[in-house]
This record gives sequence, structure tokens and C-alpha cells, in this order.
Amino acid sequence: MNPAFPFIPEQASSVAGEVDALFLFILGVTGVFAAGIWIAMFYFAIRYRRKAPDERPPEIHGSLVLELTWTIVPFLLMSVMFVWGAKVFFHLNRPPDDAMTVSVVGKRWMWKLQHPTGQREIGELHVPVGRAVKLVITSEDTLHSFFVPAFRIKKDAVPGRYNIAWFRATKTGSFHLFCAEYCGTEHSKMTGRVVVMEPEEYQVWLAGGPVPDSPVLQGERLFTELNCITCHRPDSAGRGPVLNGIFGRPVALASGERVVADEAYVRESILSPAAKVVAGYQPVMPTYLGQVSEDQLIALVAYVGSLQVPSEGQAAGALPVSQTSGARSR
Ligand code: CUA
Repeated sequence: MNPAFPFIPEQASSVAGEVDALFLFILGVTGVFAAGIWIAMFYFAIRYRRKAPDERPPEIHGSLVLELTWTIVPFLLMSVMFVWGAKVFFHLNRPPDDAMTVSVVGKRWMWKLQHPTGQREIGELHVPVGRAVKLVITSEDTLHSFFVPAFRIKKDAVPGRYNIAWFRATKTGSFHLFCAEYCGTEHSKMTGRVVVMEPEEYQVWLAGGPVPDSPVLQGERLFTELNCITCHRPDSAGRGPVLNGIFGRPVALASGERVVADEAYVRESILSPAAKVVAGYQPVMPTYLGQVSEDQLIALVAYVGSLQVPSEGQAAGALPVSQTSGARSR
């Protein structure tokens, strides 16, 4: 908008317009009411001031019309804000299925980012324009918050937890990245930028450095090194559940509950295996808490996510998608 006085930051993502429209609506409604209340206050103070020492105003015994009006009008306005806000909230919290996943780890005082192809960056994120990017955000130490004003996204980075955000950049350029949660002495320096490039430029950028192993490959290696493969065999002969095809699907638990096997579930099952045991299995898995780093967890989760095709028949514990339509989009 106006660069001299950026009251509203540049709009550079597909959700920016929606967020701004809702913000301006709420600002407008509250502005009109604030102005109305002040004007009425001054008008009444003058109009109904005491004019003589013995003046006694008439008593008023309520007005049904007035009371209904000041109840129903705010109720309707608040309902619009609620429904509209919920719509934008759900849109902001449901990444499209075709999104590319970038992992984000906050650390005092930097942002560590990793692309699905394995490239790592610190304090800078290069993305292609027009492509949905899903961010899986966590922290290695304390609370941080991943904030890109031009994309209208802000999500806390919480140690021990994966938070999801997404954006689709609509224009190329460089956009500010901030930490929006006070995290210590150098919080104000925990900044960076998101560089949005044409898809061809992005491919060139990806190929520019040494090509690292993708998180999936790193995870596959860890899966063997940590001996996960001994129990989680693809042929359902192991002591642990078959992992092929479970990712993104609902899983039946021993407790009778169902949970969707998303990033957070896989992570929890590595660190606290007894928390959500799959139906039909014993809680025999040891914890890997303290043995795997955040980066290794991300790699393991990426590897489990890549095991999409059940090797033989249906993966144990996973329910057919047809029974659970709609459960995929969280
Ligand atoms: Cu990290 Cu403030």
C-alpha cells in the first residue's frame, strides 16, 4: 500500500487480502461505535446538564425497544465477526494437500530452515512464487514465534511440539521475517527474510549449492541406525505396527480412540511411545527422548511420511480412507 506510512504491510500471500478485509471490518465497526459513544457522551453532558440547583429530572422506567436494539444490533455484528473470523482461521490452519513442507526450528537466536530436498538455510528462506508452502514449526530451546507480516502468518515455535502454518506467496521479492515472541537478549536480532523467486530461479537456487541428502533419506538411514527397522517391519511380522501408509490417516488406538497419524503423532510416538499405543500392540517400545535431536526427529518424521504405499494389503492399525472421509484435512 503506501510505502511512506505502512499502516498495513504489503500484501504478498494468497491469504493477505482475506486477513486485511476482516481486520478493516473489525476496525471500522469499533471505530464507528467508539466515535458514536464519544459524540453521544458530549452531547448528553451538555444537553442534560443541571441548570438549576433545585432541578429534579423525571424518572425513567426502561424502554423495551431501546433495550432490544442495543442487544440485537451488537449481537448481529459480533456474529458476523465470529463466523467470518472462524472461516479465515480455518483457511489459515489447513494447508493445501499439494503444499511443499519446510521444517522450521527456532533457536536462540536464529531460524533454522530445511527444504524437502534437504537444503538447509539459516535466517533466510527461499521459496517459489505461487506454490503452497507448509511450515512445520518447532523450537530447540524456548518460545519463539515465526512472523512474516507480508504473508499475514504468525505461529509460535514451541519446544516439544509441532505447529503448522502455510502460505502461498503471490509476488516475488524479499520479505521480512521476525521472531514475535520475546525470547531473550537478542530477540530483536532474531530476524531474517523470505525470498520469493520464480519457479525456474528457485530450481537454479536449489541446484546451486552442494546437493544434500533429503530429510527422507536421512530419516531412512536413522531408521536403520536406531534399529527401528527391527520392530517396524513392512511385512507385519515385527513387534511394532507397520508404518507404511499410516501417515495422514486415522489410526485406531488400544484405548479405543482414533488419532490422525500426523507429524505431531509420529514425533510423540518416538519420544513417548506409551502415550498412544496402536490397537493390537503391546507398549514395548523404548523411548528415544534425549537420543535424537530435533533435526533427526524431523528426518524420521519425513521418512515415515514418505512410506505411503502399504506393502501388503492394509497397514496394521490404519483404517481405510473411505470410512473416515474428511479426516485427512486437519
Ligand atoms: Cu526468538 Cu524472540
